[in-house]
Amino acid sequence: MFPLVLPLLAISTISLFIILITKQIRYGSGREVILNLFCDLKGRRHRWVTDPTLARRLLGSSSSKGIGIEHLLSFQAFRPIVSLESVNDSQWMRMKENFLTLKTHLPPLEKLAEIAENKTTQYLNSDQILLIDSPTLVKILVEIMQAWLFHGDSDPIPPALLSAIEEWRKEIAVKGRGDPNLKLFAVNWIQHKIRGNYYHVFEENWSHEEYWSLLLQPFFVSPAINLADIATTLASSEFREEFGLEGKKIDKGALEGLLLSGIRYNHPFPVLERWYPDGLKDGDQVIVDPNTHVFIPMDKIGREGGKVGEKWVAFGVGKRACGGREVAMTLCTNIFYPLMTHEKAGEKFKPWVGHAFSGRNNDQKETWRQTWFQVKLLVKILWRLVLHKE
Ligand code: HEM
Repeated sequence: MFPLVLPLLAISTISLFIILITKQIRYGSGREVILNLFCDLKGRRHRWVTDPTLARRLLGSSSSKGIGIEHLLSFQAFRPIVSLESVNDSQWMRMKENFLTLKTHLPPLEKLAEIAENKTTQYLNSDQILLIDSPTLVKILVEIMQAWLFHGDSDPIPPALLSAIEEWRKEIAVKGRGDPNLKLFAVNWIQHKIRGNYYHVFEENWSHEEYWSLLLQPFFVSPAINLADIATTLASSEFREEFGLEGKKIDKGALEGLLLSGIRYNHPFPVLERWYPDGLKDGDQVIVDPNTHVFIPMDKIGREGGKVGEKWVAFGVGKRACGGREVAMTLCTNIFYPLMTHEKAGEKFKPWVGHAFSGRNNDQKETWRQTWFQVKLLVKILWRLVLHKE
């Protein structure tokens, strides 16, 4: 009898681990178990904060993301891009400063608004385009950004660039390894565009990955991923019912509030994090213990009690809040207004079609291949943490 106990225990533990990974990695208690384990292995405390007031304060009181989701998962998934969202300390300060410098050289937002609305309307009016699905939406976004950032550039978008964005989406959502050749294609593409448009801003430094990443990641890869996720929420029957959108005329002035609700409803950044090495105090009162990694589940807070939290933040708080809020809102307003109001919108706008690899699980797909990738990746990370290589 006794010799059977150990193998049975091992099989049950492995099965539980696989179930956790397959079904729970993106939500529920599974992600908590895994992320808490990362902290435990580093000898760090962990704390999940869902109270909106405290969460806002904690997002704003530290600008470090420590060794958690961004460092262990997203940073690697973005490679060879160096993701500004994922780095810490002096690298973050340096990259953030350069990002802000770059922003001062960009064309005005009014131009972005005009390009975004015209381009989207053109797709809706076209007799050749019968469907605006998720890949088409990514193409529209890339065409808009190319025209805005590169002063009216209307070169055809290479299909390999769009495929590269899908590869990044897959890897960031922990659903498989992104194709390195496609990623490299995107890197060469952005470097070519930089030479023709922004060389004067950082000159030779542009060849360094920290520099070209500042254009490729926040302006192309991340917004493409976020936009497709937001579109899927806005078009979902659940959201449309809750906000009474069926048969309702949407006013452009009220669209911004609706978009913010759409972002909070199923947030593209499911969990934010902050690292508190020295803790946080109010006088003598301890708010956060030293050596604590704080996790903030944006998706849970955004829909507390089944309702979209009106006062909850969509773009984060403090020094690490979204550095492109105004770009994001200009894009979203001028893309989604036609997509939600044009006479052809009902028949053409179907962003859930081809919406693969969402990090928020709203594509409702988990395959064994993806689970196998997740198991291998987690074992690798746990091993590195055990050996203190992180
Ligand atoms: C499309 C919708 C978008 C949403 C919902 C969104 C949301 C966010 C959120 C919540 C964060 C904060 C992460 C944190 O606090 O840990 C963030 C970071 C960031 N976002 Fe956005 N974002 C969007 C689009 C954009 C765009 C278009 C840009 C660039 C123009 C951009 C640039 C950035 C940058 C640079 C950071 C990192 C800031 C830092 O770590 O210092 N975002 N975004």
